[in-house]
Amino acid sequence: MANSGVEGRDCFTSKFGIICAAAGSAIGLGNIWRFPYVVGDSGGGAFLLIYLGFILLLGIPVMLSEFIIGRRGQRNALGSFKKLAPGKQWYLVGVMGIVAAFMILAFYSTIAGWTLHYVTQSIADSFAGKTSGEINQLFDSFHTRSFLPLIWQLIFMAMTAWIILSGVKRGIEKYAKVLMPFLVLMLIIMAVRSITLEGATEGLLFLFRPDFSAVDSGVILAALGQAFFSLSIGMGALITYGSYIKKHNNLGNISVEVSIADTLIAILAGVAIFPAVFAFGLAPDEGPGLIFTVLPNIFQQMPGGYFFSIIFFVLLAIAALTSSISILEVVVAYLTEELNITRHKATLMAAIAAAFVGAFCTLSFGVLKDVTISELHIFGLLDFTASNLLLPLGGLLIVIFVGWYMKPSDIKDEISNSGTLKVRLFNVLMFILKFIAPIAIAIVLFDSLGIIRVN
Ligand code: TRP
Repeated sequence: MANSGVEGRDCFTSKFGIICAAAGSAIGLGNIWRFPYVVGDSGGGAFLLIYLGFILLLGIPVMLSEFIIGRRGQRNALGSFKKLAPGKQWYLVGVMGIVAAFMILAFYSTIAGWTLHYVTQSIADSFAGKTSGEINQLFDSFHTRSFLPLIWQLIFMAMTAWIILSGVKRGIEKYAKVLMPFLVLMLIIMAVRSITLEGATEGLLFLFRPDFSAVDSGVILAALGQAFFSLSIGMGALITYGSYIKKHNNLGNISVEVSIADTLIAILAGVAIFPAVFAFGLAPDEGPGLIFTVLPNIFQQMPGGYFFSIIFFVLLAIAALTSSISILEVVVAYLTEELNITRHKATLMAAIAAAFVGAFCTLSFGVLKDVTISELHIFGLLDFTASNLLLPLGGLLIVIFVGWYMKPSDIKDEISNSGTLKVRLFNVLMFILKFIAPIAIAIVLFDSLGIIRVN
C-alpha cells in the first residue's frame, strides 16, 4: 500500500490500493457485528431506511470532505486542520478525533477479541450438535469471564500494533484484496442458507418492512451513529488516509465506491443474520452478542459448516484488523508528525493506552458489569459516546469546515485534481455541505440530546 511519495511521505501506490485501504477501513466489525445488532435493537426495517438515507445524504459528503481535508493538508488529522486553518481553533476537531480513536479502539478490540476466540472455538468444533440454547450458554460463559476475553483482546491489539509498526500494510492490502471478496462470497452463502431456513420470512420482513411506529429520536441517532461508524468517518481516519492519496486519484469516485461497497456488505450481513434469528427463535434485540449466538447456529445447518465457521471467523478477524489499523494510524500519525515521536514509540504508546481502556470495556461484561452510568456499562458508554456523539459532532464540524471555511475554488481544485477531472454536481455537493448536512446532523444530534425538541 505505502511507498514514498512527495516529500518522502507515504503514499498509496494505485487507485486500487486506496480503494482497498479505504474499503478495508470501512468494512469491518461495523458491518457484520454492529450493523445487525443495532438494527435488531432499533426495530428493523424503518431503521434500515433511515440508515440508507444518512449514508447517501451525509455519509458520502462527509467522507469526501475528509479526503479533501487530508489530501490538501498532507498531514495527520490534527495537522491538516492546522495547516489549512493556521492560527484557528479548527485543529480541535482533530483533538476530538484522537479521543474518539481511543474509545473506538478500546471497544472494537473487545469484539475483535471475541472473534479470535470464535476462530479457536470453530477449530475445536465446540458448537457441534449444540442447540441454540447451548450455543447461547457458551457465549455467555465466555464473554462474562475475565481472563480469556482480555487475553484475546490483547492479542488483537498486538496484531494491530504489529501491522502499523512493521509496515506490512502493503502486505495486508495485498491479502485483503483477495480475502475480502472471499468474505463477501462467504456472506452470500450464509445468507442463502439463512433465507432457506424454515421460518426465515419473518426475519426478512423484520429487516425490510419498515415499521415507523418504533422510530424515536434514539433510533434516528442510532442510525446516524451507525452510518458514521460503518463508513469510518467523523474522527479523521479518512483525513489521515486522504493525506496518503495521490494527487491524480479521483476523490469523488473513491467516496462513492467505498460507501456503496460498505453498505452492500452491511445489508448482506443483515440478510444472513435476521432470517436465522427468527428461524432459531432467538431475540433480534439481544445486543452486542447477536452474531456470536446466531452464526454458529447457521453453520450447524450447513454442509461443511465446520470449515465455513473457521474460515468465516478468520476473515472477520482480518476485516477487523484492516479497520483497527486505520483507527490506530490516526493516533500514530498525530504523535509522529506533530510531536516528533518515533513511529515505534508512538505505536507502542497508543496501543498500550488503548489496550488499557479496552480492558475496562471487556471486563464490563463480567466483573465490572454493575458499573454503569445512565444505564450503560463501560462498553456501552464508550460505544455510545464515540459512535453516536463524537462521530456525528466531528462530521458536523468537518462539513462546516469544508462548506463554510474552505474556499469553494480550493474544494473544486481538490475534487477535480486541479481541473483535470470533470466535476459533476459541484453545486449540489456545496449545497449539501453548506446547508443540508450540517442542519440534518445538528437536528439529529441535538434533538436526541434534548437540547432541542423537534416533535
Ligand atoms: N468502519 C469500521 C467498521 O465498520 C470501523 C472503523 C475503522 C471506524 N475506522 C474508523 C469507525 C474510524 C469510526 C471511525 O468496522
